[in-house]
Amino acid sequence: PASDTFLEALPKAELHVHLEGTLEPALKIILARRNGHPLQNMTEDEIRAGYSFHDLPSFLALYYEGVDLLQTEQDFYDLCYAYLKKVASQNVLYTEMFFDPQLHTRRGVAFGTVITGITRARKDAERDFGIRSQLVMCFIREMSAESAEETFTQALPYLSDIVGVGLDSDEKGNPPAKFANVFRRAREAGLHVTMHCDIDQENTHEHIRQALEDVGSERLDHGLNVLDRPELVAQARERHIPFTVCPFPNMVIRPGSNEKDIRALLDAGMTITINSDDPGYMHSVYMTEALKLARDGANLTPQEVVTISRNAFNAAWIGEAERQTYL
Ligand code: ADE
Ligand code: ZN
Repeated sequence: PASDTFLEALPKAELHVHLEGTLEPALKIILARRNGHPLQNMTEDEIRAGYSFHDLPSFLALYYEGVDLLQTEQDFYDLCYAYLKKVASQNVLYTEMFFDPQLHTRRGVAFGTVITGITRARKDAERDFGIRSQLVMCFIREMSAESAEETFTQALPYLSDIVGVGLDSDEKGNPPAKFANVFRRAREAGLHVTMHCDIDQENTHEHIRQALEDVGSERLDHGLNVLDRPELVAQARERHIPFTVCPFPNMVIRPGSNEKDIRALLDAGMTITINSDDPGYMHSVYMTEALKLARDGANLTPQEVVTISRNAFNAAWIGEAERQTYL
């Protein structure tokens, strides 16, 4: 239909995508062959058949299995280049990509291997497709605060390639305040700060409060539970906190969310953006498909879709001169 042409052609920015979550089954097989991993004997369909999750822990189990296939600098290059090529074809002009260095360093892959491969792919993809990208380094919340601190120290030589820090993985029992010191260090180094407040987590309202009030989060990744608390809604509205909403995991983890929550966020005056999260594990729902889910779920008008797309450019961690080139 004509309206899908509209979504395809729309200039887009993405603010919530995990690079390791963009690993498609086809690339998994290539990496498995390259690195002598038993998964090389599986087909794409067999790999996909194992992809079912119903909550954050069951998703993370799949995600962590895939992460182990990434070994060499070339693997990280291929991962990042493939994602950027794909979304450039969807008229994504700019993307801020999360990566999870601790999932690699803890199994002996050097920090430099990870970021050097990714950075080289970003440069080549900009040259080849014109797509601009930046990197947001996430800390793994079920790992220790000390491990996050060590990771930040490892990142110091590469800070010119990192625009911000985030917080992801297993939220249960791992509040933002656990990482207050490393986020303070990051802010002092001039980095931006965001964090996941996943859907329907234990103590979610306290986690959202800490993110906004105690650790200086400039955005909320997911953050839908803000809707349960008028005082959190008021604070997010006053501070113009952008929400990075991800329709595919919404649909799986909280059925009906795209119908109800997206409209409720808009009605509450929240600034929302639409994003893919982990498209390799989520039926290849990249930006165009994520926008379709949001539009069809929440009955967004074309004007609302345009506004939401522009929100992402406005919320992007870029200079004003660059922003003007997109708007
Ligand atoms: N790691 C990868 N995707 C994630 C998500 N959506 N929430 C928390 N951790 C993640
Ligand atoms: Zn996420």
